[in-house]
Amino acid sequence: MIGCMHLSVCLSVCMRAFQLPEQGKKKARPAAGARNRQPEKLHGDGLWEAEETRDCDQEEILVLTDNEWMHYAAAAAAQCQSSDLKAAYRKVDRPAMEAWYMDDSDEDQRLPHHLDPPQYVSHEALAKLGVLHWVLDAVIYEDDPELEKIRADRGYSYKDIITVSPDKLPNYEHKIRNFFEEHIHLDEEIRYCLEGSGYFDVRDAQDRWIRIWVKKGDMIVLPAGSYHRFTLDANNYIKAMRLFVGEPLWTPYNRPQDDHQTRKDYVNHFLQGQQDAVIAH
Ligand SMILES: [Fe+2]
Repeated sequence: MIGCMHLSVCLSVCMRAFQLPEQGKKKARPAAGARNRQPEKLHGDGLWEAEETRDCDQEEILVLTDNEWMHYAAAAAAQCQSSDLKAAYRKVDRPAMEAWYMDDSDEDQRLPHHLDPPQYVSHEALAKLGVLHWVLDAVIYEDDPELEKIRADRGYSYKDIITVSPDKLPNYEHKIRNFFEEHIHLDEEIRYCLEGSGYFDVRDAQDRWIRIWVKKGDMIVLPAGSYHRFTLDANNYIKAMRLFVGEPLWTPYNRPQDDHQTRKDYVNHFLQGQQDAVIAH
């Protein structure tokens, strides 16, 4: 386990030579007494803080957006000599993928649709629904041994890249409507976000919508037979790798599909125990 002190020291040492691009510097303020604090995400506003030592007498806290922090940590890791510290940076160089329960408002589907107050969903809860997730380095997706290992382990022989945005996807309005129709597939839906972001919505065992915010570097697998849908977020842009076992079949089967064997298999495998637990509670 690599503790806060190591990270802080690494920041202090490595940042001496590393200059954050000026446009990426959101705000800086004195960091008196904060030297040993681990980079952390600020509450609620999607920003990160990172300490930087520009010289021996001056310290600053940089407040960075998610994307800025990714670049900052990647550059810092590249300059660190220790492989342990590089590994630590990889662990903190981006925020965890967020998921939350949705409200039932009819407002624009591209809005976050949080409950009030927000109710977040853990990765463990997603895993119980069969949702798998990895964080990869999207910068090296064309030659990434980690991605190739996942593909080999899970038999994902097919891959292509799709860009979804108003000006890049032919027949955009029609397709975006179809993506947002609740449906299942007979196979896994596997997407690796290379640029941009978007929302995958999945149902929990009590049929409530959970919104999963996928960003650059997130690879997600939705199991066969799970009700889901997709929409862009307010940024209106995602570039994603689609993966598949064998020849791809993208056919959606819109809800209701409760009598479909693939749906029954999914319910039996992932949902039955959770539903029984709620009834018995
Ligand atoms: Fe789908």
